[in-house]
Amino acid sequence: MSDRYCVFGHPIAHSRSPRIHALFAEQCGQAMTYEAIEAPREDFAGAWHAFMAAGGCGANVTVPFKEEAYRVADVLSQRARRAGAVNTLVHGRDGRTYADTTDGVGLVRDLEWHGVALYDARILVLGAGGAVRGVLDPLLAAGPRALHIANRTAEKAVGLAADVHAQERGQQASVTGGGYDALEGAYDVVINGTSASLAGDLPPLPDTLLADTGVAYDMMYAADQTVFLQWAGARGARTIDGLGMLIEQAAEAFFLWRQVRPDTGPVRDTLRHEL
Ligand code: ATR
Repeated sequence: MSDRYCVFGHPIAHSRSPRIHALFAEQCGQAMTYEAIEAPREDFAGAWHAFMAAGGCGANVTVPFKEEAYRVADVLSQRARRAGAVNTLVHGRDGRTYADTTDGVGLVRDLEWHGVALYDARILVLGAGGAVRGVLDPLLAAGPRALHIANRTAEKAVGLAADVHAQERGQQASVTGGGYDALEGAYDVVINGTSASLAGDLPPLPDTLLADTGVAYDMMYAADQTVFLQWAGARGARTIDGLGMLIEQAAEAFFLWRQVRPDTGPVRDTLRHEL
């Protein structure tokens, strides 16, 4: 019998994760199924426990359940504890729920895939929501010269940076709150982690934000470029969307479940064609 996996979200109908994991399973010869489940907003824990009781082996968790999944976990990885949110659950042989976050690894691996150097780079992250929370620690671990977080709502950026500071790393993240138009300086890598871009309302950004050889990365992806990437491309920046990050975070989750590493290259090609 096949092992059962799923992704929980709300909404979840448009998730690409079932397709990605089906491709991984086929490539690696793994007998498993992976479905999309729309959990009720008010009872994520119930949905996960019901899935385990029905033989579920593991799950991915997406918006809006990443923090609830953190609370449901019996055992958290170190990087999950640092992020305060998780995207991968494992139903352990002992019946307990093990949780990890693979979003940050996914982002860093995708940047590496594209040959973007993070060591000694000046990195700007736009946004301070749940999506950004999961990626800060791996970005800092890559050894940037500076990591700056900017957000519309000042308190959220300050809170997030404080959590990062608490992580006993030698480096620190600096912060700008209250909007993006006061940002100064040029960055080597600008990462959009706000949800604004998909809604089509990019807040005003200074023209000087990207260095001459700058890279603009959007954690979102769209069949057409996101508004943020359109903005950056029009200013001569190299642009990369978040499809590769989605595939890399999935590959890391797949590894946690199956102890097999899929080759993400062919899956990237397939998904890009299907967009
Ligand atoms: P997610 O889990 O996707 O990160 P979230 O936690 O609600 O969702 O965070 C959304 C992020 O997008 C926040 O940084 C939010 O800014 P605020 O903290 O100021 O709300 C940002 N965001 C969403 N819409 C935006 C807009 N129109 N302009 C600027 N920032 C926006």
